[in-house]
Amino acid sequence: MKIGGVHYHSIWRDAESGEVRIIDQRWLPHDFRIATLSSLAEFEAAIREMWVRGAPLIGATAAYGMAEAMSRDPSDQNFEHSASVLNATRPTAVNLNWALQRCREALLPLPPDQRAAAAWALADEICEEDVEINRLIGEHGLALIRDIAARKPAGEPVRLLTHCNAGWLATVDWGTATSPMYQAHNAGVPIHVWVDETRPRNQGALTAWELGEHGISHQYIVDNAGGHLMQHGLVDLVITGTDRTTSTGDVCNKIGTYLKALAARDNNVPFYVALPSPTIDWTLRDGVAEIPIEDRPDREISHVFGMTEGGIGEVCVVPEGSDVGNPAFDVTPNRLVTGLITERGVCDASAEGLAAMFPEKVGQAA
Ligand code: MRU
Repeated sequence: MKIGGVHYHSIWRDAESGEVRIIDQRWLPHDFRIATLSSLAEFEAAIREMWVRGAPLIGATAAYGMAEAMSRDPSDQNFEHSASVLNATRPTAVNLNWALQRCREALLPLPPDQRAAAAWALADEICEEDVEINRLIGEHGLALIRDIAARKPAGEPVRLLTHCNAGWLATVDWGTATSPMYQAHNAGVPIHVWVDETRPRNQGALTAWELGEHGISHQYIVDNAGGHLMQHGLVDLVITGTDRTTSTGDVCNKIGTYLKALAARDNNVPFYVALPSPTIDWTLRDGVAEIPIEDRPDREISHVFGMTEGGIGEVCVVPEGSDVGNPAFDVTPNRLVTGLITERGVCDASAEGLAAMFPEKVGQAA
């Protein structure tokens, strides 16, 4: 997508040096900074500390991290060490594990002297696939938006609500939940997006920044506003992303997604999840019981990061001595999900729905 008219991906290799570059998301939306990742330790920090974030981008970054590691030392021992370092960075988004597994299957059968080149090619391929998957999710989601637009008076915008940032910054390009929004806007279908702030990391600010760069009408709202907006008929459609979806269609996503799904159900608002296939965990059936939920540092809760009068900084918002808790994700049971927007089309959030969409994966289901 474009920033100031220039097309960017969220991760790329410099055309001359081959170095891996990222948009350093820690500073957005206040400052646009590009960082270079050139060691396993930097890839590890970039994922763990959320210089990059969002399930698909975490997977792509891990694949480049493995390529960097294989360039330095392509031995089996270094493969295992690097994969376990990267795999330990963030527990919830299954794309991390998926990307490392792809590296394992593609690289370990090769003689060590061929692994580095193959690893770089694989990481590039994972990025290209991600862009195409998200473009297709956008096409299928656009059809849903068009359906709603057709039932409204001409020119009235379709009002969407989204949580967190499942935008192009969370993927390589397009985003998942935002791809239908970008494609609707590009096709001239009027939309307005309610953007949940998404405390504590305020990924909504990333979504608002993206939408603003693309000229899409949007409003940034606190996380608690969604239910009220739905009660008053101001939301036509919710689309969120996901970090891990079980083979039965239970959806794990950023903390607070579940509450939005409950409010949507109570108000008959359709609740869709944009789901790229690498985010499906075919080994799990019960999302609440089985998906590991990341606990993040207390400081993300006790301190708020933003632009102060003295520049970018933090302020403390809790009384000294109060304990805080920071579960970073929650699970929305499949019964609350109207449908899953995959790259192959929209399906029911159920074992049957996903199996019909991805029949070749059925044998892998637990
Ligand atoms: O903690 P984050 O910012 O990595 O969490 C991101 C989300 O929860 C996104 O909604 C999810 O990864 C889908 S991204 C296309």
